[in-house]
Amino acid sequence: MYTFCREDYERRMTWYCQARFGMFIHWGLYAIPARGEWVRSVEQMPKEDYMRYFEAFDPVDYDPARWARAARKAGMQYVVLTAKHHDGFCLFDSQYTDFKSTNTRLGRDIVADFVQAVRAEGLKVGLYFSLLDWYHEDYPHCGDRNHPMRNHPEYGNEHRNFDRYLDFMHAQVRELCTNYGKLDLLWFDFSYDDLRGEAWRASELADMVRTLQPGIILNNRLEVSGEGYGSLAACSPTPYHGDFVSPEQMIPPNGIQDAPGRDLVWEACVTMNRSWGYHATDRFFKPAPMLIKKLVECVSKGGNLLLNVGPDARGNIPPESLERLAEIGRWMDKNSASIYGCGKAGIEKPDYGRVTRNGNRLYFHVYENTLGPLPLLGVRREDIRSIRYLATGAEIPISTSWVHSDYPQIVFADLGLDPVLPDQTDTVIEVELKKEGSETL
Ligand code: GLC
Repeated sequence: MYTFCREDYERRMTWYCQARFGMFIHWGLYAIPARGEWVRSVEQMPKEDYMRYFEAFDPVDYDPARWARAARKAGMQYVVLTAKHHDGFCLFDSQYTDFKSTNTRLGRDIVADFVQAVRAEGLKVGLYFSLLDWYHEDYPHCGDRNHPMRNHPEYGNEHRNFDRYLDFMHAQVRELCTNYGKLDLLWFDFSYDDLRGEAWRASELADMVRTLQPGIILNNRLEVSGEGYGSLAACSPTPYHGDFVSPEQMIPPNGIQDAPGRDLVWEACVTMNRSWGYHATDRFFKPAPMLIKKLVECVSKGGNLLLNVGPDARGNIPPESLERLAEIGRWMDKNSASIYGCGKAGIEKPDYGRVTRNGNRLYFHVYENTLGPLPLLGVRREDIRSIRYLATGAEIPISTSWVHSDYPQIVFADLGLDPVLPDQTDTVIEVELKKEGSETL
């Protein structure tokens, strides 16, 4: 049986903590009603009504190579696809259900295509798998908090056998861990009420996954959901502990620490608009500059950002998302050294932006121009080897202006006469220190 070993843990988390930026893809039958992936539950839609989307599913523009390329060009390092969401529809050729993509007009094993496309772009592969299944007869219906039929006593649970459901669910996870080559990450979703931990037979499940896929990374939702940190935070890791904490639609104010105060690994999953699955009328897209700053914020707090897209019923990532990915990519092309492999700087956040750090390199992310030379709070003059714009490599002199002569302890960078920053979203200044251990003030 799997037990936690910190050395192994740190080894398997290395790529993930370096990567910092990934793509989440929510795709399934719910792209057709186009009201989000919870549509069946929200509208308490009977199974029979939902089946019309199964009959209609025909994504003529489907091409996971384009999704993977968009992710790579945005600077993302891993991609996580919904192999199965709560509606129970499988994007893979499971032998345990007929409710799967190979039985639609598309007739393809989407997970197989996806894994191949993502690998071809050199990115890490992740699969999302819902612990809930609103299609399976043995999953609790009436009275379950989330099930579409929750309010219908005629969908009572007397004849349902939850253990049979668990056998089925475990068998599907086994298929995913067996039939698609190496998986880098498995993203379970989610625990609620009494359904958490061993209610999922989670020790057995996690042990199987880790045996079939050595080195795989698991999130913490066998134990919790978007709320709750999990047993690693409590320093009493269960055999099904998450490898990272998965806050949802928010960035933790101070990163996340375990009980004795050590930084934990975490990943904020965030939508570009307000929906995970494709939503036809959700126009609330976050602007690209904001998304760039949120990525930087995650890194500066020691976390990852998993940014979601929801392809439409034809298989296309919405244009609004593609535009944002492209703009993020243009920034990443020049500035990714301030993201990959970076983390907390150990310096207080300056009022004009944020700071990330990789070893002896500090990255000052300047969002707002200062009046006069820019204070590099937290660094000592004698420790500085160079100060340069990351985007161009151009050197930035240390200011000798009289205006800051009242602050002799602080190093000021001289950005020149132009009051407008070269990159108005985030101009990154790389400060190389003489040695890794150079102390910060
Ligand atoms: C949730 C939702 C869901 C979404 C997920 C992403 O808990 O149930 O629809 O897939 O979070 O984090």
